[in-house]
Amino acid sequence: MPERFASDLLAGQHVLVTGGGTGLGRAMAERFARLGAAVTVAGRRPEPLAEAVAAIEATGGRAFGVSMNVREHASVEQGVADAEAALGPISGLVNNAAANFLSPTRKLSEGGFDAIVRTNLYGSFFATQAVGQRWIERGTTGAVVSIVTTYAETGSAFVVPSAVSKAGVVAMTRSLAAEWGTYGIRLNAIAPGPFPTEGAWSRLVPDEKTAEQMRRRVPLGRFGDPSELASLAAFLLSDLSGYLTGQVIDLDGGEKLASGGQFNDLAKMPRDVVEAMMAGMRG
Ligand code: HXC
Repeated sequence: MPERFASDLLAGQHVLVTGGGTGLGRAMAERFARLGAAVTVAGRRPEPLAEAVAAIEATGGRAFGVSMNVREHASVEQGVADAEAALGPISGLVNNAAANFLSPTRKLSEGGFDAIVRTNLYGSFFATQAVGQRWIERGTTGAVVSIVTTYAETGSAFVVPSAVSKAGVVAMTRSLAAEWGTYGIRLNAIAPGPFPTEGAWSRLVPDEKTAEQMRRRVPLGRFGDPSELASLAAFLLSDLSGYLTGQVIDLDGGEKLASGGQFNDLAKMPRDVVEAMMAGMRG
């Protein structure tokens, strides 16, 4: 996929990526480093963090891995302090760490609901508040990008804890865009459609047939590539988007809109058949 931003797009920035050791978080962290940012990758497991840091350093970037459980307020506070001690003041945050699994809602345990909501909603709030407090105290600006999902808006069967918690992150994004705009702090969210990663796919996509059905729902006819998410996130962290705040941007190949329109299934039929049918309907 093309990378056409200037190579110093994020120079001088220190970006913290939660869940940055694996999957989409790691893809974003590596990209930010290639664009000149110092990057802290945060997560629960030390091994993936060490691998992500090594990969970034191998290409000449500056990186730090910090142990952090976003479900715990004290852990987030400590992680942010450690990150700043290592690489200087944070200027950008990506709320990427997420928990999810498919479950019939009537069978969902309290612990299962708690694990997902605490990670997605509390985790995003704890990290956002921790960096926001610092920015406001120091009188510096900052940018937050939260990774949500298109079904935060539409809702979705079998992922109720994920849907409600991501909807909360959307509400936080819009609320703080109003509350913190006066400090020059911007908050935006990206709502990805299907992006195949090991972590998400193993919990959400039971088999190849389901994956193919998911692919067919996307008008652009394919899944997202991690570099496409990284490009949008880099743009939202950078000065290029300096007047953009409080927005949720769907990055889904058109999937959400195509799932809603009453006549969208016609677009999946051979176009000559559809056009002949419509011609036959004219008076
Ligand atoms: C029902 C489950 C479960 C499952 C865990 N639990 N897996 N319940 N079905 N498949 C319940 C457990 O029984 C327990 O509740 C509680 O959840 C916590 O589980 P633990 O095993 O203690 O592990 P924990 O690490 O706390 O949490 C597990 C986890 C988390 C929530 C699955 O590890 C996780 O989500 N990691 C995924 C990281 C990742 O890949 N994220 C990307 C998400 S993608 P009890 O009550 O028994 O104690 C995404 C985008 C969506 O969100 C869009 C896609 C198209």
